[in-house]
Amino acid sequence: MASRGKWTSSIGFILAAAGSAIGIGNIWRFPYMTGKYGGAVFLFVYLAAVVLLGMPVMIAEIAMGRATGKNPVGAFRELRPKSQWKLVGYLGVIAGLMILSYYSLISGWTLGYFFKTLAGQLRGATTEATPAVFAAFSANVGLQLLLLGAFIFLTAWIVSRGISGGIEKACKVLMPVLVVIMLVLLGRALTLPGAGKGLEFYLKPDFSKLSPQMVIDAMGQAFFSLSLGMGAMITYGSYLKKDESIPRSTAWVAGLDTVTAVMAGFIIFPALAAYGMSPAGGHPLVFHILPVIFDRMPLGTAFGLLFFLLLGVAALASTISLLEVVAAYCIDELKWNRSKAVWLAGGLSFLLGIPSVLSFAGVPCFRRLPLVGVSFFEMMDFVWGTLALSVGALFISIFAGFVWKKSAAFREIGWGTKGARLGSVWLFSVRYLCPLLIAATLAMLFVG
Ligand code: PFF
Repeated sequence: MASRGKWTSSIGFILAAAGSAIGIGNIWRFPYMTGKYGGAVFLFVYLAAVVLLGMPVMIAEIAMGRATGKNPVGAFRELRPKSQWKLVGYLGVIAGLMILSYYSLISGWTLGYFFKTLAGQLRGATTEATPAVFAAFSANVGLQLLLLGAFIFLTAWIVSRGISGGIEKACKVLMPVLVVIMLVLLGRALTLPGAGKGLEFYLKPDFSKLSPQMVIDAMGQAFFSLSLGMGAMITYGSYLKKDESIPRSTAWVAGLDTVTAVMAGFIIFPALAAYGMSPAGGHPLVFHILPVIFDRMPLGTAFGLLFFLLLGVAALASTISLLEVVAAYCIDELKWNRSKAVWLAGGLSFLLGIPSVLSFAGVPCFRRLPLVGVSFFEMMDFVWGTLALSVGALFISIFAGFVWKKSAAFREIGWGTKGARLGSVWLFSVRYLCPLLIAATLAMLFVG
């Protein structure tokens, strides 16, 4: 196993896993979904999903990875040889490739906005103008392909350099800086006149807004944000040393991820309210509002540059983990070398990203898919970013609860064979709570 590489320290693992978790999912996807579903209720369902479903599944994934030292397919195969469980691993590898394709596109937007800010194109941004600026930007197919390609290229280059040398080193420096800059933005947003209305939207629940689709999306968002359900944490866990505490690492990663998402909401909603913009702006929400905030704060250009750069970096730490899942599979199972695995998977995901690019251009069949009525991009995000991760998490929890021997799981997690009290809570969650809640939520999709 030595040749697969290892994280060099526990903080290295926590930052790399938090790097995977914290990304545009927190700063782009979480606010627009919260806005779309009317604010506080979505926030509360999301927080419940993180604690009740996300944390137990994360413990299970990391433990499965460390126990086997394998990619998702290899992990299932080793823990339950000659069974169909490996299909859950395959689902994860495919989801990794699919999510990477459109996630890299949004990540490319952060680069685009960095250069827009640098060129002074966002100076004097008004709430009326920014949506049009965004629409023109995202409809420029050549530029979008360039940004998508550049982002996947960067990701592949880092992943090709391996575990501790590439991924760990980059995350250790960049994640703390992102948090600092978000704190500055938070200070700005909360002190804007009229911010209070935004806080009310964000924190005061209106339970009439509860709907089945909202619960599905909140649950999916929890898995998406924590990088769960597709084996990213199995893969990262496979590089974790035996003496690190899995529950403690999980608490850190889930805690940092949730704080970042909640903080993004505390920046976006007060600012939207202060400038009289609608929180239901959909996908481009943060690209509509952030330029306006930057334009109206002292040193706004400098903050804007730093912010988009760091958001790009947070996205990069996430795309790295998406690609690493696919790469680890190709290296372990297909016996490819790292470089071949990384560049081929990166190339394939670029091709898969092209229809998403076209969804934002005027190409009608991608902008609005026949029958489903949403764009190709939206379809990809729902099918892979929400459904596949939820189905993956469902099977991972059933596997950890019923198929994996309890004593082996407990030993790996560090609860001894007798099992601590926390162990019983975890077992109850992966055996009953997670499967029932996830299955019930998914069933609502078909019923209501
Ligand atoms: N957790 C990332 C985010 O919130 O931006 C997205 C993601 C990364 C999802 C890795 C899944 C994954 F395996």
